[in-house]
Amino acid sequence: MTTVYLNGEYLPHERAVISPDDRGFIFGDGIYEVVRVIGGRIYEWDAHAARMARGLAALRLAFGPRDVAALRGVSERLVRDNGIAEGEATVYLQVSRGAAPRTHQFPPAGTPSTVYAFGTKFVVPRAHREDGVKAITYPDFRWARCDLKTVNLLPAVLARQAAAEADAYEAILLRDGVMTEGAATNTFAVIGGTLRTYPLSNYVLPGITRRVLVELAGELGIPLVEEPVTHFELPKADELFICGTTTDVTPVIVLDGRPVGRGTPGPVSVKLREALSARMYGTVGASP
Ligand code: PDD
Repeated sequence: MTTVYLNGEYLPHERAVISPDDRGFIFGDGIYEVVRVIGGRIYEWDAHAARMARGLAALRLAFGPRDVAALRGVSERLVRDNGIAEGEATVYLQVSRGAAPRTHQFPPAGTPSTVYAFGTKFVVPRAHREDGVKAITYPDFRWARCDLKTVNLLPAVLARQAAAEADAYEAILLRDGVMTEGAATNTFAVIGGTLRTYPLSNYVLPGITRRVLVELAGELGIPLVEEPVTHFELPKADELFICGTTTDVTPVIVLDGRPVGRGTPGPVSVKLREALSARMYGTVGASP
């Protein structure tokens, strides 16, 4: 039996009920996070909490940093209560602007937010990491606040479905002729020996894995520039990889049916995957 968290209560998944008037359902009016849990410990909690608090503030949702901080304990308890503290897990956390009669403008002050969280066992897909995956390109028709992790995920849903129908794992999004990120990942390419990724802006999510990889590239002496890769440069990339909380570093070896570089994971992707792994398991192991 799965235990989930809803509005202050831990209860069986079947008993978790949300109003049809919930603004998360009606308007996609909410923020979410996905955290990785290794051996019962949350990896990079502070970064996830800071991003969530920033997103909630940008949406003017009355759920402050202290409320977000309390979700750490909620996540840890969900992992314990569901028997997934051994090995790896993910916790999904969502806060919406609550349930109220449908009006586009905010509901009356004092309308409680809806807070929902659940944990799931996570099995690292080693074949993806080691052998690489296929991807397609897809138009980035998202809004201009992609830096906020809102529950409005329809463009990502359509992009991932197009990928699935092409037997690919990820859709790499192109806006105005340049690669922004993946449907649910950030993206990096190696071109002429330099690692390139879209700069932090309103057009990409400030990924936590992305930030760690930028740091690791610095430590490893891998040249990196935060500059967009154009659609014309992509076929010339020696390497391409996607990254994220559940993706780590996953090489893309085929893009739109054509091999990327030699069609196998390249040396930069492999080095960064190994360094990320060492950082992740090292950090979590070392934390109290
Ligand atoms: N996706 N870009 C987008 C659009 C994302 O949705 C995600 C994460 C990332 C990677 O960010 P991070 O390294 O902080 O996980 C980049 C989550 C995991 C999801 O939607 O399931």
